[in-house]
Amino acid sequence: MPTRVSARIGAISESATLAVDAKAKALKAAGRPVIGFGAGEPDFPTPGYIVEAAQRACAEPRFHKYTPAAGLPELRAAVAAKTARDSGYQVEPAQVLVTNGGKQAVYQTFATLLDPGDEVLVPAPYWTTYPEAIALAGGVMVGVRTDESTGYLASVEDLEAARTERTKVLLFVSPSNPTGAVYPPDQVAAIGRWAAGHGLWVVTDEIYEHLVYGDAVFSSMPVQTPELADTCVVLNGVAKTYAMTGWRVGWMIGPRDIIDAAANLQSHATSNVCNVAQAAALAAVCGDLAAVAVMREAFDRRRLTMSRMLNEIAGVVCPEPQGAFYCYPSVKGLLGQEIGGRRPQTSAELAGLILDEAEVAVVPGEAFGTPGYFRLSCALGDADLEEGIRRMAKLLTDAG
Ligand SMILES: Cc1ncc(COP(=O)(O)O)c(C=O)c1O
Repeated sequence: MPTRVSARIGAISESATLAVDAKAKALKAAGRPVIGFGAGEPDFPTPGYIVEAAQRACAEPRFHKYTPAAGLPELRAAVAAKTARDSGYQVEPAQVLVTNGGKQAVYQTFATLLDPGDEVLVPAPYWTTYPEAIALAGGVMVGVRTDESTGYLASVEDLEAARTERTKVLLFVSPSNPTGAVYPPDQVAAIGRWAAGHGLWVVTDEIYEHLVYGDAVFSSMPVQTPELADTCVVLNGVAKTYAMTGWRVGWMIGPRDIIDAAANLQSHATSNVCNVAQAAALAAVCGDLAAVAVMREAFDRRRLTMSRMLNEIAGVVCPEPQGAFYCYPSVKGLLGQEIGGRRPQTSAELAGLILDEAEVAVVPGEAFGTPGYFRLSCALGDADLEEGIRRMAKLLTDAG
């Protein structure tokens, strides 16, 4: 008998990051003083000039209509100009497809590139959406394990060891969610040359491009490796740079045939992105980067405080994140220890215990393909951040 839910959709798991966030919010709503480190979004409002552009668009009838499926022509042109300004990658407006957030860009890119059985190399830990988007397209994800000893950076040798005859795509993300790792430009170039040399496609997710700290610099793979231009898709969006997660505007940039094919898919799936949200995104990408500089300063301060406090807890090892707004400590040293009268064996059990006993929500590494770790977001107020880590430290230290 056929199943009620198709096998393809039944195999999709709930987003673990959203689940942790939802549980923390439910506990908070029930009056418990939960501190949540689960959020994957900036804790800042969208800058006023962007909101005002949307308000103006709301009042104009032409923004009440469909746009072309691939996006407002002026937004596609502005994204091409912004990309040249920010990363140095020169593209035509026709190479830009405006999507409902970076997420739809991820989904459509894999749907457009993959045939059943095609393999995609994905450095682990990885963002939870990649495996699902790859599987939905019939592809096979091949995780390439990295750990804290290399600051979660995959080398050309690691990638080469995982390459097979079926490998079609390398997924690359720097700065990384969940680890905060940022690849130095020479390593980006080396990986790009390796991919081009083996005829692989590169899907490079640049959504955290403006959130880098200290000596780290963002560099775009097709700029480092121009020979990739015909086999590279760049993913990006306004969510993280302009605190616009709820507006749902992202984009994919790629060769014309891929963009045209993905636009056909989008034309049947969702048509255009909300026209008013596109007007807001247009104001964002045409404006300056002053707002992200303010957020970056706050995240920079918090990632230093957070990684320092985490490293002070015995059994926790936390590389200092170089980008994005997450810390990704190993908690392997705590597993099997007696904590709060229990002996958690996995990071998921430990995260559950910390939520119950310390009222602190973290996302366990199981969500990112690497059990034994936690992801903690820096996107919360400084006082809450310090109080949350103090509570965790007290519970975990009392254990020892
Ligand atoms: C690495 C990465 N790529 C893409 C996205 C997609 O962002 P959005 O769909 O909100 O634009 C996210 C969001 O968490 C992310 O972390």
